[in-house]
Amino acid sequence: MNEQDPPGNHDLVAVLTTTRSVRLRLRLDLPVAREDVHDCLRIAAQAPTGAGTLKAHWIVVQNGASIAALGEIYRGLWHGRYDHALAGVPQEDLPADVRSAMHLADNFGRLPTVVLGFVEAPTDTPDNQASLWSSLLPAAWSYALAARGRGLVTAWTTTLNDAQTEVSKLFGVPIGYTLGVALPTAYPEGQAFKPAARYGWRERIHDEGW
Ligand SMILES: Cc1cc2nc3c(=O)[nH]c(=O)nc-3n(C[C@H](O)[C@H](O)[C@H](O)COP(=O)(O)O)c2cc1C
Repeated sequence: MNEQDPPGNHDLVAVLTTTRSVRLRLRLDLPVAREDVHDCLRIAAQAPTGAGTLKAHWIVVQNGASIAALGEIYRGLWHGRYDHALAGVPQEDLPADVRSAMHLADNFGRLPTVVLGFVEAPTDTPDNQASLWSSLLPAAWSYALAARGRGLVTAWTTTLNDAQTEVSKLFGVPIGYTLGVALPTAYPEGQAFKPAARYGWRERIHDEGW
């Protein structure tokens, strides 16, 4: 939190600055109530809607066999992408970010809950991609914030997007819906979360022009 933060908004600012993608401190042993996930998705539905129409769909995955199947796909994609670059690097020398990403990849199949976010998308790629994704991504982030409000944590992941067809087949997703984000959801080990170092944010603000 910052001294410039307006008085009265400290809870909100704390949530906005400390809602992290949690990959290491996940309670894999603790179930998450489906009603709680649904309630977070109810809150997520308050995000902006184009023409007042909800275009996001969610699959709440808690079935062990389905999570294991997702985990196989995720693990294969992640290691397929990074193993070559990481070959020969001892585990203890891996940067913290890589270590935590690998931990998630290796444990994705043991998560208590994964929420898959899909957007209703035309089969031909629209020119205005931002407009399409705006129907899903703000809602997905609202879901992450709402989950935090219930003491849950999430991680923002798009690795599974590279296996669209396989994932869609696994869950019977009709043609015309595109996977945009997968949100592992779990209780965390401990509730202490800090703001991340986000270097250069100030230089990226261009007042009145670039
Ligand atoms: C577009 C996007 C896609 C991402 N995909 C993944 C992913 O598939 N797997 C992963 O472990 N982290 C992924 N990340 C990174 C994490 O969500 C997170 O941003 C990172 O661990 C840093 O943590 P923090 O955002 O809480 O500071 C992605 C982030 C973004 C913005």
